Amino acid sequence: MPRSGRGKFMPVIVVIGGQWGDEGKGRTIDLLAQNASIVARYSAGNNAGHTVVNDMGTFRLHLVPAGIFYGDKVCIMGNGVVVDPPVLLEEIQDLQSKGVSVKNLYVSDRCHIVMPYHILIDRADEELRGPAAIGTTFRGVGPAFVDKVGRIGIRMVDLINPDAFRERLSLVLPYKNAVLQKLYGLEPLDFDKVYEAYRDFGRRLAPFVADTAVMVQEALTRGETILLEGAQGSLLDLDSGTYEYVTSSVPSSTAAGAGLGIGIGPTQITRVVAVYKAYQTRVGNGPMPTELKGGVGDELREKGQEYGATTGRPRRCGWFDAVAARYTARLNGLSGAVITRLDVLDTFASVKVCTSYQVDGVPVDRFPASRGRLACCEPIFEELPGWQEPTTHVRRFEDLPRHAREYVKRLEQLIGVPVALVSVGPEREQAIIVKPIL
Ligand code: GDP
Ligand code: IMO
Ligand code: MG
Repeated sequence: MPRSGRGKFMPVIVVIGGQWGDEGKGRTIDLLAQNASIVARYSAGNNAGHTVVNDMGTFRLHLVPAGIFYGDKVCIMGNGVVVDPPVLLEEIQDLQSKGVSVKNLYVSDRCHIVMPYHILIDRADEELRGPAAIGTTFRGVGPAFVDKVGRIGIRMVDLINPDAFRERLSLVLPYKNAVLQKLYGLEPLDFDKVYEAYRDFGRRLAPFVADTAVMVQEALTRGETILLEGAQGSLLDLDSGTYEYVTSSVPSSTAAGAGLGIGIGPTQITRVVAVYKAYQTRVGNGPMPTELKGGVGDELREKGQEYGATTGRPRRCGWFDAVAARYTARLNGLSGAVITRLDVLDTFASVKVCTSYQVDGVPVDRFPASRGRLACCEPIFEELPGWQEPTTHVRRFEDLPRHAREYVKRLEQLIGVPVALVSVGPEREQAIIVKPIL
């Protein structure tokens, strides 16, 4: 176990999504942050929507880490996050207007910026894809990561320096305007308008900008507890997910991206926890073997109010997919799992879990790489008795109804890692700590 210079144990815990996003990462981070000193987001952009419900209200965070509600925690947006400046400024203002302090918020000087042309390109790309559209959030996040990899991005360190920004935009905008006009047939963007608006955003964001990797590294040497907040889910990851129906974050949304996206080495990460819903959801297009169209799928959506925190789109719903869960547990090297939304299943007479797939009667025991093959996979379900009792008030595992305990134990067995936390409602205290994570 890594230790600080003074020999103190220093947990660095990564919290990721084990499915297709929206598993309840925000809710989990909000709970765990009580015992951490830093909460740092390490990937993606405002395509994410992390909901936190606490005594100050209901908040949907798109960029700001979910530890922000504790005045004494340092909240960091690491270099792996792409920042849309007006969106971040609005989120900050919204938090402040609800009495939440952002004095401990820091944004990495190495973050890439989502520019207006990224948003135009996101929409235009989706139109060009036609029936093969990914179903993106239209936030420009994919195109911003494309530019990062293509070495034509603009970073926060440039944005907050008017001269550096002018120089960089002078190089980048003519290139992007040529792409907008020649490839997509769109109007070019006016240099002065973009420059002036974004220079102003840069001026307003500058007080938050820091070399955040150094802050994390110094906290490590002091032996402090650090939570690394993932976005999206492992099945939306570029390498491990259901490509091409994935998101484009570099670094990866899996645990492997955490060190890179925050500026620490992989040996410094001590624990990886994945959040899983007690059933399955997905927003956007792409294969989803356990999807239930109509009937129980609609029931899950209405009982769970499964509508996206970012776009408000209805989420596709189905029974828990243990083949996919086992796959994401393995590829993230999980130390533990969190099961959320158990309460959404409270009224069902029976619940099902997909334990394996088959194609034309032949078992498929691994999560396939091929989108086409996954789309042909038929789920094989195991049916368990429902508990038909409310669980939202339960705070100890042994107080859950017997069939609810058996359901969680069966998920634990199928995922193959210990369940550390069970969530029975969106509020901070609606949680059952099975094994301490911090
Ligand atoms: P994230 O993107 O992983 O942070 O998840 P989202 O915030 O997009 O979606 C999770 C939704 O489930 C939010 O509306 C949460 O308030 C809600 N939620 C989280 N845990 C629970 C739970 O245990 N029960 C219920 N009923 N809702 C929950
Ligand atoms: P959180 O962090 C659920 C999905 C989109 C789409 C695909 C690509 O809240 O769990 P993008 O805009 O990223 O290029 O869209 O990825 N997607 C998410 N789905 N939760 C998210 O984030 C998501 N972020 C992206 O719906 O299918
Ligand atoms: Mg979400």
